[in-house]
Amino acid sequence: MTEGGSDKLWGGRFSGDVDDTMLRFSESTEADSRMVAEDIWGSEAHALMLHECGILSAEHLREILRWLEKAREEFEAGRLTLRVELEDVHMNVESYLREGAGPEAGGRLHTARSRNDQVVTDFRMRLRRYLLDVRRGVAALREVLLDLAERHAEDTMPGFTHTQHAQPITAGFWLAAHAAGLERDDRRLAQAYLRTNQSPLGAAALAGTSFPTDRELIASLLGFDGVVVSALDAVQSRDFAVETLAALSMLMVNLSRLAEEVVVFSSPAFGMLEVDDAFATGSSIMPQKKNPCAGELTRARAAAVAGRLMELLTLLKALPSGYNRDFQNDKPPVWQACEHALATLEVMVGMWRTITLKTGRMAELAGAEFASATELANYLVRERNVPFRDCHELVGSLVGALVAEGLTLDDHARVAEILGGLGQPMTADQVAGIVDPAAVVWAQKSLGSTNPDEVRRVVEELRRALGIDREEMDAAAQRLADAREETLRRVREVLGEE
Ligand code: ARG
Repeated sequence: MTEGGSDKLWGGRFSGDVDDTMLRFSESTEADSRMVAEDIWGSEAHALMLHECGILSAEHLREILRWLEKAREEFEAGRLTLRVELEDVHMNVESYLREGAGPEAGGRLHTARSRNDQVVTDFRMRLRRYLLDVRRGVAALREVLLDLAERHAEDTMPGFTHTQHAQPITAGFWLAAHAAGLERDDRRLAQAYLRTNQSPLGAAALAGTSFPTDRELIASLLGFDGVVVSALDAVQSRDFAVETLAALSMLMVNLSRLAEEVVVFSSPAFGMLEVDDAFATGSSIMPQKKNPCAGELTRARAAAVAGRLMELLTLLKALPSGYNRDFQNDKPPVWQACEHALATLEVMVGMWRTITLKTGRMAELAGAEFASATELANYLVRERNVPFRDCHELVGSLVGALVAEGLTLDDHARVAEILGGLGQPMTADQVAGIVDPAAVVWAQKSLGSTNPDEVRRVVEELRRALGIDREEMDAAAQRLADAREETLRRVREVLGEE
């Protein structure tokens, strides 16, 4: 109990204690436990600003900072656990401070501040850290895929449309395409970061404050890139979180599609991939089974993240202006989505680092099911000056005849014979030189094609982009570390520790 008759920070208006069921219904300590460090940092910056603006005396500032630093040390030592009866992280930190510093100094920290601007400040600060971690995970996966793509730039495999064999491609081409998609995922996350890293602190409850505060100063001490200027907008907007969930959903869908191919291609029917034992699991009844569960669980995690996006959109859609308590439930879906993404990326990186591409089997399937037929038609257009539609018809007849005879395009002599009958005489060697899957991939010439040289060039381009993206992540992380250091430097200065 503190004076005022209640240990609640809003005790004055209330005559009795909150019902136990209501307390359990309304507290948010589990979700909030992720942003304790942010809450303390935010409080330090707020106190420093109050003093700088002449709102808080040097003596009170020192007392407040002394206890916030103790809270930080306790937290870092794992000793500051959030008490459920104090509802949330903000009340826990403030209570710790009031108990330590006493109500005279401790009771002044909340001047010109509300939990409404405080909570969304903590949210944004914690989220930007998750975003950088996810981006690092995406970068690691891009690197693994690009290394593999380079190594397998010339190894042929079947390319699919409608899940049917379509044209020969290279494994490098396939993997570089996934890496290109992940590059855009990183760009989306980087965009979400920009919108997330804006400071709402100083908006107070909704209307701003009658104290002469300096919102720019707090923003800079907290490592924000700018201020959410409108106080009302600052407390009621969560679009930064929606954007993050949308970017994470797209990322997870891309990871899921990549995972789907691990599941399918590692099935013995395809036999083109083998997942390392470390990333597979067995069956409790069928002793022979080795299951690609990492891929399957990735698909499932993607469903969970897309669900969290729907949850937040639905939570927001009819909320009126200002803070609404519904906002409290905005954090769990975001934390869950970030944690799903991080866990998935970690496993995907490990799995792709250790996966085996069965290049023999890939090559065997590359030319199966008449996959080189398109290139044979292209050859006739190019070398014999026949309109493409006629070539399409002619090669279609050839395939029909081969199917009827139970043969394939690899039966070069018979292919040559049938082509002769269709008015396009050719030697068996000529046929072989056109339909061999390796020849087919080398024959591709267009920008971004599966030609191994083009694959290597694209991989190099994607590597350069990865390097730039990583520099951007490092710079963003450094900016946060510098801001944290600057706040701590000022804290130590006040406390006379330097
Ligand atoms: N725990 C609350 C949340 O997460 C903090 C803000 C509560 N504000 C209030 N006026 N009750 O949103």
